[in-house]
Amino acid sequence: MKNNTIKKILTEKEFQRTLLGSRIEINGWVRSKRDSKSGLSFIEVNDGSSLDSIQIIAPNELANYSEIEKVSTGCSIRAIGSLIESQGKGQDVEVRAEKIEVVGWVDDPESYPISKKRHSFEYLRSVPHLRIRTNTFGAITRVRTSLANKIHNYFFERGFHWINTPIITSSDCEGAGELFRVSALDLANLRDISEPLDFKKDFFSEETFLTVSGQLNVEAYCLAMSKVYTFGPTFRAENSNTSRHLAEFWMIEPEIAFADINDNANLAEELLRTVISQILEEREEDIHFFSKFIDKEITKRLRNIVEKKFEKISYTEAIKILQESGRSFEFPVKWGLDLQSEHERFLTEEHAKAPLIVIDYPKEIKAFYMRMNDDEKTVSAMDVLVPGIGEIIGGSQREERLDVLDSRIENDSIREKLSWYRDLRKYGTVPHAGFGLGFERLLNYVSGMENIRDCIPFPRTPGNAKI
Ligand code: 4AD
Ligand code: MG
Repeated sequence: MKNNTIKKILTEKEFQRTLLGSRIEINGWVRSKRDSKSGLSFIEVNDGSSLDSIQIIAPNELANYSEIEKVSTGCSIRAIGSLIESQGKGQDVEVRAEKIEVVGWVDDPESYPISKKRHSFEYLRSVPHLRIRTNTFGAITRVRTSLANKIHNYFFERGFHWINTPIITSSDCEGAGELFRVSALDLANLRDISEPLDFKKDFFSEETFLTVSGQLNVEAYCLAMSKVYTFGPTFRAENSNTSRHLAEFWMIEPEIAFADINDNANLAEELLRTVISQILEEREEDIHFFSKFIDKEITKRLRNIVEKKFEKISYTEAIKILQESGRSFEFPVKWGLDLQSEHERFLTEEHAKAPLIVIDYPKEIKAFYMRMNDDEKTVSAMDVLVPGIGEIIGGSQREERLDVLDSRIENDSIREKLSWYRDLRKYGTVPHAGFGLGFERLLNYVSGMENIRDCIPFPRTPGNAKI
């Protein structure tokens, strides 16, 4: 009886009926306790499996009732008793305890950081190891698990291979220089060295970093396995203190061979639509919680993504729309300049009022690996923008022509470093494409949370690598 989660007992009705009247065991953490004058204590217990807690009724005949009276929010307990139909409102069933063991007490309940009252998300960020005990972070954790599972399933069911690309790398995929260095050199003793560092003496005999993207590696696998993806942590040392940026985040990066930008856009759209519709069903209770307490519009917005075809426009059209919007933006709008978050939000929230795919960006503002268009001014890039978030996906068709690729690589030394990547164009090159979906941006979108820092268990941002 021990392995039944509270979710299973509360929500699987058929199973619940078979359990009625029998003895069950509940293990979990106390969310609240109330003592009635009639000699009963009502204890709400949660084990993380569901938003709802199960109610344990502790009668004062229990041998250790004087101990039970001292139980407070946060204590862990093991309760044994029979599952009965509930007499009270708010739940169908409850457990009438025959035995309750307090497994772990809370030292000084007065100062317990996650007391029953409502806490701000900012405060909760200061206790990331305990915030999981709140309804919101329980829901976020469950939705995160389900989303990861649905994403993996989506690819497995379509014959994609999951490639575990390295976390330590010697290349800067995006060329944006936002790299965290990985070194085993003795930093303390390097302080006085004036000459340039000799990375030959370092662990890998060359300069290495935490990866900003698994794309280049996954491309190698794509050009043998046809349909691949990587799903892992990526790192960016960008000093962006926004509610949409993390220094460490997870990214899903599929890569498909014999494919162009349209195949890529279709894949992105279908992936988002599929996993979101599955989440609406599998995590209905949690999504309902988000729409009640976090963002009233969330269910409507998610249904919208499932039902409406994404609109596709070019960067050039996007610039025109922005210029003709009559809106004054903080950052300039001009052909050749990158779209800022405020521009992206306008395009998706006010212009399209739905997810929007923007393609064909000026080559100067995009990475070297993106395929040059015939106009030689733009590359076959693609960003997917969604209301409330802005960019959720960034991708492109890749430059499969060696000579064009070479002309896009800045200098000989990088060309040499990327000789393996150039090999892929020398030996059986094919048109191929891929994209990166930020996992926390997706969770941010699905939950309606204000800040991406609340969509990853232990956020890393400038000035903070707590725990
Ligand atoms: O647009 P980005 O930089 O694209 C790439 O890294 C490509 N190599 C992907 C590919 O084609 N395989 O990042 C892709 C996505 C963004 O759209 C965003 O969702 C997320 O990764 N992302 C971040 N999420 C959280 N914090 C950050 N600092 C992020 N930077 C990018
Ligand atoms: Mg991008």
